[in-house]
Amino acid sequence: MRTESLLRYCVLTLAIAGLLAGARVMRGQDQRFRDPAAWGSDHVGKPVPEYTTGDECLFCHRNEIGTTWPTNRHNLELRKAEPESPAMADLRKLPALQDSASKVSLLLGGKRFLRFAKPSQDYGKLELLSVVWKPDVSGKSGKLISPDNPLWDARTFADQCAGCHATAVDPKTRAFANTSLDCFTCHGDVPPEHAKDTKFAYLAKKKHDSAQVITSICAQCHIRTGKSKSTGLPYPNNFVAGDNLFRDFQVDFTSEGLARLNPADRHVLENVRDVVVLGKEDVTCLSCHDVHKQSTKKHRQMLEDASCQHCHNPTGSKKVHKSYEVHSTTCQY
Ligand code: HEC
Ligand code: HEC
Ligand code: HEC
Ligand code: HEC
Ligand code: HEC
Ligand code: HEC
Repeated sequence: MRTESLLRYCVLTLAIAGLLAGARVMRGQDQRFRDPAAWGSDHVGKPVPEYTTGDECLFCHRNEIGTTWPTNRHNLELRKAEPESPAMADLRKLPALQDSASKVSLLLGGKRFLRFAKPSQDYGKLELLSVVWKPDVSGKSGKLISPDNPLWDARTFADQCAGCHATAVDPKTRAFANTSLDCFTCHGDVPPEHAKDTKFAYLAKKKHDSAQVITSICAQCHIRTGKSKSTGLPYPNNFVAGDNLFRDFQVDFTSEGLARLNPADRHVLENVRDVVVLGKEDVTCLSCHDVHKQSTKKHRQMLEDASCQHCHNPTGSKKVHKSYEVHSTTCQY
């Protein structure tokens, strides 16, 4: 009995010593893995906040934000279908599509791929047309894909798209509160007090949000390979700025998961992994992107590292950047 417990004690001591040695090696290689779900809280199972809408925000913020917001791609991502737009003109040209064209009232995307949509009879839902439009490089003309047998689909948008292409989706009904992406998606539920003390608004200069908070905000939509644990849907469950996205949103951060992606999605996922898994907090999306000015000028000042090679050659002028194609099974293009 005695020898047995002594033996167990020895095995335990050896095991601990082994673990410590292992940890030293890990630290030596600067490998600090952390659990992305370990901090903060979320809004899973809680009511969707009744937030202030963009029109109200812009009443006060018309000078600095109001001037660029009308052309911001986040704002235009779902927009009124202008009859003169090249996509609408192409749709009307084919006699078989004239009936569908007359029902289209919204357009989604359009830089690489454009979807036609109309509001459904249910509140906060959209129907998508099976016929899609692909612009050529100029963006001013393009072609229709699968123009035969046009069908309206009333389920897909709510079940597979809404959380990233509309604002404040109720996880139970999958209905959205607003088409396109309102201020709420990035700044959260901004209270009136913020006008006196800007610390109350996420992404305000004075708030000094942590890298993890910033990353959760952008990653809620820009990781197109994740899944909500609680709903099983490809978009987050009731995410609100300030939450830890990764308590409920499951993502493959392995090298294999990264290698499968195109350079655009890869530079996003790699940066997210660096922040939330490897604990490197010095570079976030905002080190390189200015969202309101839609500029990546800042990125030219960044220190060279391996991530530059998604778009630049390892040596030679940075004036050269690789061209790449972007596809996403989540977005069906
Ligand atoms: C996890 C969030 C997410 C989901 C879910 C999602 N999207 Fe997207 N989608 C995005 C993001 C982010 C972009 C912009 C990517 C970029 O430009 O690199 C995008 C881009 C697009 C574009 C191309 C815009 C353009 O012209 O370049 C289309 C079209 C699109 N999505 C349609 C859909 C449809 C249809 C669904 C549902 C079947 C869907 N998406 C589901 C996040 C999502
Ligand atoms: C896609 C995300 C996103 C959306 C949507 C968004 N913002 Fe911002 N906003 C940001 C980020 C990021 C910053 C911080 C800028 C920085 O630090 O680079 C910011 C900064 C600001 C600022 C501070 C001014 C400044 O130049 O730093 C104001 C005011 C603001 N946003 C208002 C709005 C309003 C009003 C809306 C809606 C009409 C809106 N934002 C929508 C991401 C967003
Ligand atoms: C009644 C007027 C008013 C409304 C409505 C309003 N704001 Fe503000 N907001 C202000 C004032 C005043 C400030 C502080 C001065 C400044 O920085 O512009 C401010 C500051 C901010 C900042 C921080 C700016 C910085 O320099 O860091 C953000 C972000 C912001 N507001 C976003 C929003 C968003 C998003 C909404 C809508 C949900 C909104 N505001 C609605 C008046 C308003
Ligand atoms: C609610 C979803 C959502 C959030 C939150 C969001 N984005 Fe986006 N973003 C999109 C979609 C969708 C598009 C593609 C819009 C289109 O072209 O139709 C996009 C486009 C972009 C683009 C390409 C636009 C361009 O001018 O080329 C950049 C860069 C970008 N987002 C950065 C960010 C950053 C940084 C954040 C965090 C501060 C953020 N986004 C937050 C959904 C989102
Ligand atoms: C090291 C700098 C850097 C970091 C960090 C970074 N980006 Fe980018 N990103 C860029 C540059 C540069 C481009 C290319 C812009 C262009 O094509 O004009 C780009 C392009 C994009 C695009 C458009 C891709 C396309 O072609 O459809 C999106 C969306 C985007 N970034 C989102 C993000 C998000 C979200 C994050 C944070 C998770 C992020 N980026 C982090 C530098 C960066
Ligand atoms: C997602 C693609 C992407 C990534 C990642 C990226 N770049 Fe760029 N880079 C571009 C594009 C597109 C341009 C041209 C537009 C611009 O300047 O924003 C560019 C331009 C530049 C320029 C200006 C070249 C000139 O003289 O005109 C520099 C410098 C630069 N990048 C450095 C970097 C560094 C350093 C990194 C890594 C930290 C990096 N880039 C990562 C796409 C990228």
